[in-house]
Amino acid sequence: MSCFSTVVITGASSGFGAVFARRVAQYLQRCGRVQESRFVLIARSVDKLQALAGELTAEFGCEVLVWGCDLASSSARAELLGRLAELESEWMMLINNAGLGDYGEFISAEPERNRRMIEVNMTAPVEITRTMLPAMVKAGRAYIINVASLAADLAIPDFAMYAASKAFVASFSEALRLELAKSRVHVTALCPGPSHTNFGDVARRTGKSKKEVPFRKWFYTSIDCVVKSGLRAVLANKPRCYPSLKIRLVGLFVRNAPLWLLRLIMSSRPRRAVPAE
Ligand SMILES: NC(=O)c1ccc[n+]([C@@H]2O[C@H](COP(=O)([O-])OP(=O)(O)OC[C@H]3O[C@@H](n4cnc5c(N)ncnc54)[C@H](OP(=O)(O)O)[C@@H]3O)[C@@H](O)[C@H]2O)c1
Repeated sequence: MSCFSTVVITGASSGFGAVFARRVAQYLQRCGRVQESRFVLIARSVDKLQALAGELTAEFGCEVLVWGCDLASSSARAELLGRLAELESEWMMLINNAGLGDYGEFISAEPERNRRMIEVNMTAPVEITRTMLPAMVKAGRAYIINVASLAADLAIPDFAMYAASKAFVASFSEALRLELAKSRVHVTALCPGPSHTNFGDVARRTGKSKKEVPFRKWFYTSIDCVVKSGLRAVLANKPRCYPSLKIRLVGLFVRNAPLWLLRLIMSSRPRRAVPAE
């Protein structure tokens, strides 16, 4: 099968990633190109990826490759990068979406979990982007969505490492976009607020009960809104995307408020954990 487009999605086994796969397939269908498309779905849960691949092939007739990979493992990433380096096509999209968080104070964070967060949230998108970029620059049109977070703009107690990792993603995206300004590659940092995916369950530490920060529910955005907004933004070559009006307004406030005010707000914010003495 001749392949016009290649779509690579990390973290495609659940949440935003799985919905991205369906929405991009629908977009390519509207363009009349879906049957000449190849999707590469990456995550650890190969069974879930295979179920999604079956759905996509049945509904859209596209080729779907399932590449199981633990992005926190440097040897697994090295093998993945070797395969990604061989992908070329006329239209390319890379969605660096895989990620995880860790709710709780840094003093009691597990070092192994910190390492995994660094590797999955920062190292993997950097290495994957570096590997695929030459082919993307050669393509007729290419798109990169880096899934950051509203947390990218804010230092958050009890979420210190995660927020810092997303600040890295957003900053990396902005600089990359400037470097690629004269190319046909669009780069967008997607900065969602909270959404109902598996993210919260994964981020919760073992033995800790489900404790919601008050007012957090108000911030929730639907998964579909996040994904559709992200796709619209990258196709329109927007540098950042804050999905939904409320998240856009919070983002606007956070980016324009003085640091002293943000420190004051964050220091009086209800905490998930009892602060260390
Ligand atoms: N949901 C929110 O509230 C929210 C808000 C802002 C930003 N985000 C960001 O959105 C992105 C997607 O998260 P989500 O909300 O959709 O959560 P999710 O449902 O937990 O999905 C996370 C995805 O990342 C994959 N992943 C995690 N660790 C991995 C590893 N070591 N190797 C390979 N894949 C791995 C998971 O697949 P496997 O477990 O199968 O490996 C899964 O497909 C993340 O970058 C997250 O930081 C989420």
